[in-house]
Parts: sequence; structure tokens; C-alpha cells
Amino acid sequence: MSDTKLIKSPIKEEMKEFEPYFKEQLKSKIPLLDVITNYVLRRKGKQMRPMLVFLSAKLNGEVSESSYIAATLIELLHTATLIHDDVVDETYQRRGFFSINALWKSKVAVLVGDFFLSKGLSLSLDTGQIDVLKVVSNAVSEMAEGELLQIEKSRKLDITEEVYYQIIRKKTATLIAACTKAGALSVGVNGDKLTNMAEFGENLGIAFQIRDDLFDYEQNGMIGKPTGNDIKEKKLTLPLIHALGKTDKQEQRRILRLIRRHHKNEKKVQEIIAFVKANGGIEYATEQMELFAEKAKNNLAGYPDSETKTALLTMVDYTLKRKK
Ligand code: IPE
Ligand code: IPE
Ligand code: MG
Ligand code: MG
Repeated sequence: MSDTKLIKSPIKEEMKEFEPYFKEQLKSKIPLLDVITNYVLRRKGKQMRPMLVFLSAKLNGEVSESSYIAATLIELLHTATLIHDDVVDETYQRRGFFSINALWKSKVAVLVGDFFLSKGLSLSLDTGQIDVLKVVSNAVSEMAEGELLQIEKSRKLDITEEVYYQIIRKKTATLIAACTKAGALSVGVNGDKLTNMAEFGENLGIAFQIRDDLFDYEQNGMIGKPTGNDIKEKKLTLPLIHALGKTDKQEQRRILRLIRRHHKNEKKVQEIIAFVKANGGIEYATEQMELFAEKAKNNLAGYPDSETKTALLTMVDYTLKRKK
């Protein structure tokens, strides 16, 4: 069986039911909003987060109404942040097609993102899911902090490996941890078991973002969003941070100067990419990603073998191997 089939197999029914549930939240009588919502709904993405909610619920009990609400809330907030992120990063491609800001301009994208976000919040309030709401709204404020810290560091270009981890933990891993935590919460898990499920998500999330950052150094027409964009945004990610740390002061200054002055120049960007590759940046980031994946797998070690556990372990492997 392929990885994606293995991952989905224990939660086929849940994912089928999730679809209309998600759609239902986004109805609007404003034609422009309705057109954009339909556009978003047609380009689904990998749906990793709702899958993680259901798998984490199933690993610990029986999927409940509250699992559906958590999955929907999180996918709504995730979609909202992607719409906003493409404005922030000035990216014109997402999920293999034009981003909302590319088609309807930034002002529309900001408002549509706000609409998705608020629909997620209303859903959890209307259904009285306060525990889940707490977990997820904490993740959303962490995301904003992470993105702002990233902007601060791209201005100063003084990022360290430690701050890199702080950024990706906040902007990506906390939401993925919210998936596994909310999934477990939705079936009544608490105490150390709950903390362990959150840690599983966090470790997976860190590996996931390192993988995403590695994409930026690859030539891959399949991923559905542009590559080489991070350097253009002066985002220094793990491969580059490591490569910089391995060179002498003079070379460091030369590369930082290239980034500061020529980050929009395609030829110079290629030169920076070559520098990263020549200094083992890709290998190092790959090793670190594998370390976090290993930690994630260890978080599941206490569970007996099951189809659901296999699916989650496969999800960890898929996170490293994925092509988009
Ligand atoms: C993209 O997330 C944003 C990051 C945290 C890197 P995904 O790669 O899960 O996006 P979709 O939902 O599959 O498009
Ligand atoms: C993802 O970071 C962070 C959030 C979506 C909050 P990126 O900016 O690297 O995500 P992509 O690569 O655009 O999906
Ligand atoms: Mg981006
Ligand atoms: Mg990225």
C-alpha cells in the first residue's frame, strides 16, 4: 500500500464526513466571498491536520463529535493563515494554482483570511468546545509571534539556530501539536498522556517545517508553490544558518551582503543556494529533520500496535519523504 493510503485507511469514513462539515462553515451571501470560498474549497491541500486530529483521537479512543469540531476548526485556521502568509511572503502560487492575493489582491486576501479565522472561532463557541478553542487559539497567537519574529530576524539577518527553532516551533509546530492534542482531548485523554500526544505533534511539526524549508532549495515543479522564495524574502532557514556557521568571518560577511543587497537577483540567489549546498547545509538540515522524526516516533512507543498507530508512524515517514 502507498504511504498516503496507509495513512488514510483507518480514517476514511471520518475524512469523508469531514468534507461537508468543513464546507458548511463557510457559507456566505456575499457573492465575492462565496466565489473565493469555492475557489479555496476546490484546492484542498494535503489535509494533514484534520487527518492528524482523527488519527490521534482514534489512537486514544472513539472519534467523537468534538473530534470533528477540532478538525474543522484547525483546518479553517490553517487555511486562513496560508491565505495571510501568501500576502506576507508576497507569493503568487499556492496548492498548484494562483494564491488569493494573486487573483484578488492583498486587501481581499486579508479579509477572506479573517473570515475563515472568525468562522473557526464561532464554530467552537457555538458548540461549546472551550478546551479545544483554548488549545487552538494559543496556537494561532504563537503563529503570529513566530511570523513576526521571523520578520524581525530577516531585517537584522542575525538569526541563530536556536532562534530558528523558536520560530518554526511557533509558526508551524504549535498548530500541528494542537492537532494531536485536540484529537486526544476530544476522546477524553488528560495528564501525561495528553502532554505526550502534544509532544508527538510538536516533534512532527518541527520535522515538517524543516522539510518545507528544504523544499526551497530544490528544483521541484510538483510542490505547488514557488521555490527559492525564502532567500528572496531574506528568510534564513536551517540549511543556510548551518552553512554560514561553517565558514570564516569574511565569507560570512560576503554571503550576508549578497542576501542584504541582492536577495531579489536570481543569479545571486543561485549563488547563495550553491554556497549552502557546498557547505553541507542540506545534509545537516536533513539530519536534524530525521532526529525530530525519530523523537516523534518515540512518543508513540507506549501504544500497542494497531492500524492507527501504523498510520501515524507512516505519517512521520511521509513528512520526510513527501514531494509536496
Ligand atoms: C504549509 O502547510 C504551511 C507550512 C506550515 C509549511 P501544508 O504543506 O500542510 O499546506 P497544505 O494545506 O497541504 O496546502
Ligand atoms: C509557514 O511558513 C508558516 C505558516 C503558514 C504560518 P512558510 O512561509 O515557509 O510556508 P509556505 O512555504 O509559504 O507554505
Ligand atoms: Mg510562505
Ligand atoms: Mg516555506
